[in-house]
Order: sequence, then C-alpha cells, then structure tokens
Amino acid sequence: MPLPPARSDGRPEPERVAQAVARLYDTYPFPPDPVLAAAPPGYNWRWCWEAAYGFCTGGLAPRHSPRILDAGCGSGVSTEYLVHLNPQAQVWAIDISAGALAVARERIRRTAGDRPVDFRQMSLFDLDRPQKGLPEAFDWINSVGVLHHTADPTLALQRLAARLAPGGIVHLFLYGAIGRWEIRLLQEALCLLSPQDFPEGVRLGRDILAALPEQNRLVQRERSRWQLENQRDECFADMYLHPHEVDFTIDSLFALIDASGLVFAGFSNPEVWHLERLLGRDPELCQRAGNLPDRQRYRLIELLDTDIAHYEFFLFKPPLPMLDWQRSPWPDYFPRRNPCLSGWEEGCAFDQDYRVVHLTAAEVELLRLCDRLEPIAAIAPDRLNLWQSLVQRRLVFLAPPDNGG
Ligand SMILES: C[S@@+](CC[C@H](N)C(=O)[O-])C[C@H]1O[C@@H](n2cnc3c(N)ncnc32)[C@H](O)[C@@H]1O
Repeated sequence: MPLPPARSDGRPEPERVAQAVARLYDTYPFPPDPVLAAAPPGYNWRWCWEAAYGFCTGGLAPRHSPRILDAGCGSGVSTEYLVHLNPQAQVWAIDISAGALAVARERIRRTAGDRPVDFRQMSLFDLDRPQKGLPEAFDWINSVGVLHHTADPTLALQRLAARLAPGGIVHLFLYGAIGRWEIRLLQEALCLLSPQDFPEGVRLGRDILAALPEQNRLVQRERSRWQLENQRDECFADMYLHPHEVDFTIDSLFALIDASGLVFAGFSNPEVWHLERLLGRDPELCQRAGNLPDRQRYRLIELLDTDIAHYEFFLFKPPLPMLDWQRSPWPDYFPRRNPCLSGWEEGCAFDQDYRVVHLTAAEVELLRLCDRLEPIAAIAPDRLNLWQSLVQRRLVFLAPPDNGG
C-alpha cells in the first residue's frame, strides 16, 4: 500500500496522489452497492434537481433540462440516482479510476435505458480546459466524498466553481476531522505496518481490530459506528487504507468555501446543526449560543458533538433568485408538490427525509390542487396559512409567475 505522497516542501504531489487514489478505487470501486437490473431503490432528495434547488432558494427550479455533472462519480450510485430522479436532465460523470468507471458504466447500462450518461476518465483538475462534448457550464455539480481525496481541495473546488453556470448549485460531502480521529489513528498505524497492497492492508487492519482489547477506543468506535458498512472490504479500505485524505473543521471548511467564490446555501442534513439537539435541556444556554453568528454556532456544535464525521452542504454561484415568500406577493405564485412526496393522497406521507407526515384533509386537498398548474390566487387564495405551512415543511414549492405553471 503506498504511503501518502509528499513533495520536498511537504505538500502532496498532485500526480502521485491521483495515481495512488486511482489504484485504491481500481482495486475497490466505491461505493460497493450491487449493480441492479432495476431503478435504484428509495429516494434521496439531495439528488433531485427540484428538491435541491428548492432547498437553496425556497422556490421552484426553472423549467429546463439541467446539465448535471457528477464529479468523482465512483461506481456510479449517485449518478444512477441523478439519472432516475431527474428525467429531464442531461448527466455527465467523471472519475480518475478506470475500475470505478467500469462499474458505473455497467450500472447505468442496465437501468437507464435510452438515457446514457457521458462518462469520462478524467480528473476534475482538468475541468479548466475545454473538453469536446462537455458543457462549458453546468447547472448542478454533485461531488460527494471526492475533494478531500485530492492533493489540493481548494483548487479542486475552484475548478468546479469555474465550470458552474451563474445561478448553478453544487452539492458537496467532505470529511470532518473531529468525528474521524480514530480513523486517522488506525490509518497511520496501518501505514507503519507497510502492507504490500490494499487487500493485505484490509487483512492487517481487521487483524489489528480483532487483537486489540475490547475496551480499546479504536475498537469501540469501529463497533459502535462503522462495523456494519465495514463488513465490505471496499468500505474498510476506503476508511482505513486511504492513501490521501484531508479532513476539515468548520473553520477550514469555510475558508475553502470562501476561496471558491461560491455562497453557502446550507447543510443538507440541517437537523445535525440544530443547537436544540445538544443543548435543548437548557433554554437559556440555547438562547445564548443561538445568538452567535452562523459559523461560530456551527463550530460550537462540532465542538460539543464529537460524532460529526462529515459535512454535506449546498453552495451556489450568484445570482440565484431567492424566494422570500414572507415578503413576495406569493398568492401570484404557482404551487408545485415536492416530487419526493409519496403516499400523500392517503393523508400520511413520507417527506423528503423519510419522516412520516400526517396531513389533514384540507392539506391533502391543497396538494391535489397543485395539479391545476394555476397560481394560488386562482385556486385557494383564502387558505394562505395552510399554503404557508406546506411551503415551510417543504411539501410544496412555489414558482414565481414568470416561471410558473
Ligand atoms: C469515496 S469515492 C466517492 C464516489 C461517489 N462520489 C459516491 O459518493 O458515491 C471517491 C471517488 O473520487 C474519485 N476521485 C478522486 N480524486 C479525483 C479527481 N481528482 N478527479 C476525479 N475523480 C476523483 C475517486 O477515484 C473515487 O472514485
């Protein structure tokens, strides 16, 4: 297994990092989800254009076919969702690992029918050069679990930002240092043992965890948090044998974002970033901490919750029209049901986070009225409070009049 590459100045050498990372994923394409013959199960709103755009703006996405890039697509699990949840979209996907791309291509070949994905073996660092057939600008770039494995995440995000259309959005997933400290320790321990290749590294890693005392914190953390997914060697290697990983803190995360020129739109797991979850038993403390500026509040949360092992969030490139439905003349707006909603007709639905939502008969009626493709003023102007509640709970998105119907 290669050691983390270094230049004489101590900074990683980009080409060696890319080669080492590609070797890992050629050996163990990630994620290792089975390649199925049918569309992927379940729903993930983070890969649904309307829901993602609604999250960033509060409003409805323009009615056009978004150009989507899956940057660092791996074995194509996210790519497959992007294809299936966005029937109007055109999808491109890039990765440096030939092995991962082979799995991704087969995955899409089996389920996407006549909607091929343009897969390319290339680095996201090469997005600064024109590439035949690759759009100059994308409306949406998804890059999950990738930037932290590059030699220069700041430059990597700048490359993505340069390829984003104005008003476009990015979804990122990056590792957090605090929740991964045990992982980093075992990574380093395995490096010291110099396995010959990744399979030997997996075997050694499993041997170490089996040999350590029960109450050892590395063992306890593996058992309580990661064991289930790490039954797969692909996951175990991705976690403990990675040749290159940069972990972030809230401070370095926002430094990265600021350097990209993009704007933070919010964490896509917002419930993690609610103070009440941690300090709710002490309302006074909660209020005091709640007055902190956003970034300091996030930092406080990660200092208090040492389990936060990743950040997932949306960024956008201005200008992006925000729907402030509290100020806008929103009866003129066109309501549209969140496409992630299922089962709403029966009055009991899963929302986009798979939480059960109980709907009143009046709410079901409004959700049904969305089908009329008319503005609120025309279909149910007397029930603004109810519309407001549906919008707040992201069960309904509002399209401005010039993007309506
Ligand atoms: C942990 S996997 C994530 C795969 C996928 N995004 C997902 O979350 O399901 C990281 C992927 O990023 C790819 N990768 C790493 N550096 C890259 C780069 N510079 N350009 C493109 N892909 C890269 C790796 O080859 C690997 O397939």
